[in-house]
Parts: sequence; C-alpha cells; structure tokens
Amino acid sequence: MKLFDVYPLNNITITRAKGARVWDEQGKSYLDMYGGHAVISIGHTHPHWVERIEEQLEMIAFYSNSVVIPQQKALAELLGRISGKENYQLFLCNSGAEANENALKLASFHTGRRKIIAFKKAFHGRTSLAVAATDNPAIVAPVNQTDAVIFLPFNDVDALKAVFTTQGNDIAAVIVEGIQGVGGINVATNEFLQTIRECCDAYGAVYIADSVQCGYGRSGKFYSHDFAGVNADIYSMAKGMGNGFPIGAISIAPHLHPKHGMLGTTFGGNQLACAAAIAVLEVIEKEGLIANAATIGDYLMQSLREIPELKNVRGRGLMIGFDMPDSHTDLRKKLLTDHFVFTGEAKPNVIRLLPSLALTREEADEFLEAVRKEISVPVG
Ligand SMILES: Cc1ncc(COP(=O)(O)O)c(C=O)c1O
Repeated sequence: MKLFDVYPLNNITITRAKGARVWDEQGKSYLDMYGGHAVISIGHTHPHWVERIEEQLEMIAFYSNSVVIPQQKALAELLGRISGKENYQLFLCNSGAEANENALKLASFHTGRRKIIAFKKAFHGRTSLAVAATDNPAIVAPVNQTDAVIFLPFNDVDALKAVFTTQGNDIAAVIVEGIQGVGGINVATNEFLQTIRECCDAYGAVYIADSVQCGYGRSGKFYSHDFAGVNADIYSMAKGMGNGFPIGAISIAPHLHPKHGMLGTTFGGNQLACAAAIAVLEVIEKEGLIANAATIGDYLMQSLREIPELKNVRGRGLMIGFDMPDSHTDLRKKLLTDHFVFTGEAKPNVIRLLPSLALTREEADEFLEAVRKEISVPVG
C-alpha cells in the first residue's frame, strides 16, 4: 500500500526533537520557528509532558465517555483558571476542525437557526461545516457546499452591522479567528471583535472565537480575542493544547446549556490526551510561557521591522507574519536549505512564525541572523 499523496513534503526526516530544535536522521540540527504548524506550545519533548504521559500510560490510556474520567475535571479546572473563564464549560474532542464543527453545531442547536457568518480568508478546518465556513473553494467538496454560510470582509464593521440589520434573526453564529493564520497573519481589530459581541448580543447569536491557531497563549494572552476586552460565547482550541498529542476542545459560556447526547465523540477526552493537556497547562503556568511569548514576540517583531527589505511585519506574541521581499521570494526555502530553519508560509508570499512559546532570546537571535544573512545575499 502507498500513501495517499496529499501533502507537498520537504525531503527531511525528523527523528529527534527538544525545545525549539529538531534533528534529522543524519543528526543535522534545525531551529524550529514553525512549531509543527503552531502545535508545539511548551517545546518538543518537554520532560514534564513526557513524564505525565508515561505515568498515565502505565495506569490507563483510554476508556470511553461512559465512565467518570477525573482527568477531564482536572483539565477543566486548570483551563478555566489559566484562561480566565472559570465559569465556562469544557467539551473535549480531537482536533481543530472537530472543535469548530461542534461549536457551530452547538450554536445552531442553541439558537434554532442555520445561518453562519464567517470572513474572507478564514480557515476553520476541513470537516463539513468547518470547511464550508473556510474561504477556500479548492478544499470545499460539492457535498460541503451550503447556503448557510455568509462570507464578509474581515475587520469590516459596517458590513457586519449591515448583515445583522437585514438577517440578524436568522444568524446562529459568527465564527472568527482572533488572528487569521492560514489567511496570512491578519490581526482582528478590537473594534471588530467588540462589534461582533454587540451584534450577537443584540440578535441572540453565538460569538465563536476560533482559537485553534491563535489561542493557548501564543498571542501573549491566553486567547488572542481577549485583547478586545469582550468575551466570546465559545472558544475552540486544539494545536497547542496537547503540544503534539492530538486533543481539541471547546470552552462554552454558562448560558449555553448541555443536553445528553447533544455532542459526543469516542476518543475525545481520553485519559492519555487529558494527561498531555494537563502537563501543557502546568508548564505554561510554571514557566510563564504566555509572558515569554509576549516578550520574545515583541523583540522578534521589532527586530524584523528593522530589516528594511521585509514588509508588513505583523502579528501578536509568537504568531508573526511578514511578506517576503520581491528580491528574495525564495527566502523561506533558503532559510530551510541553507540556514536549517523551519518556518511556516501563507500563500502567496508570507512567512509565518509559529515557534514554541518557550523560544529563548538566543534562539530568536539565531533566526534573525539567518534572515539578515540571507537577505544580504546579492540577487541573481
Ligand atoms: C484557525 C484554525 N482553525 C481550525 C483549524 C483546523 O484544525 P485541525 O487541522 O486540527 O483540524 C486550523 C488548522 O490549521 C486553524 O488554523
């Protein structure tokens, strides 16, 4: 059997990883400014994370949601406290798409409505409703096409108000990334998120904060939506939550009421996944990683802005994007092949930085040095 070839691959096999560094099978070391797509939150193979998973594995890895799983309650308590949403409710699943799928479904159950507002350049996942709310026709199969989703321009307060004025009573939810990731690191303005809150309040719609990529401390606050100073009704999360162990979740405001059988999953919230997620939050808290993301992120952004060839340096914390200069459109490739630095991309010409929240100043300097060196290489 061969693999179903859907991923364009770098021809590199990573066999070992530690912190913000990975090694290939020849022992070559790489700096990981990509975090395996924003997944590595506390650093690769963090010893506390390994220990908690190993300890749990020796006891029980999995039993279904037909019995009490105390690890879920421990995780809910920790997440509630660290995210500052102690009165919210936790539903656990396995991925970002699944988290958004459940968030949208819950909003529709709650309101009895079927229209969703999403935004241009949004990415919410590849399952049926999540992909329908994603602004990329190339990944929407005919069976996923629906008239339930209304796409509006991102950060356009007037367009949002106008749709609510005419269709407000049909809107179940507004789903929005606090910082668009796949769309190229576009930061939602405070005014935009505050207006979403106001419109949802005025018309009884549900505000869903997709925090799958921009959440979990990456922005310098637990949820990047928190910068606007208003609460969402549902926060979806995944990526950084397990530091590579697959787990996703939604954090649900108290006025949304559960009913048995309303949502469900076989694997979601299993003991092993919870152990990994608990370890992540313990490390985030103990090592002050949210503050570190803010400090190192500011330093990186400021330093990148001092490189005149780089345009539109933007982001928050350790979620940073900048446009590759026309003179160096192969910058990302060169960083990998010549300087051994992994970075992320966003089409057509954006470099995305999504490193571990534990990135040090020295590692940031190593990255900056590689960029400066590569930019100084004469073109042609
Ligand atoms: C903002 C956002 N939402 C949802 C998803 C989907 O997450 P997953 O790939 O875990 O299904 C992603 C993945 O990149 C994302 O960036």
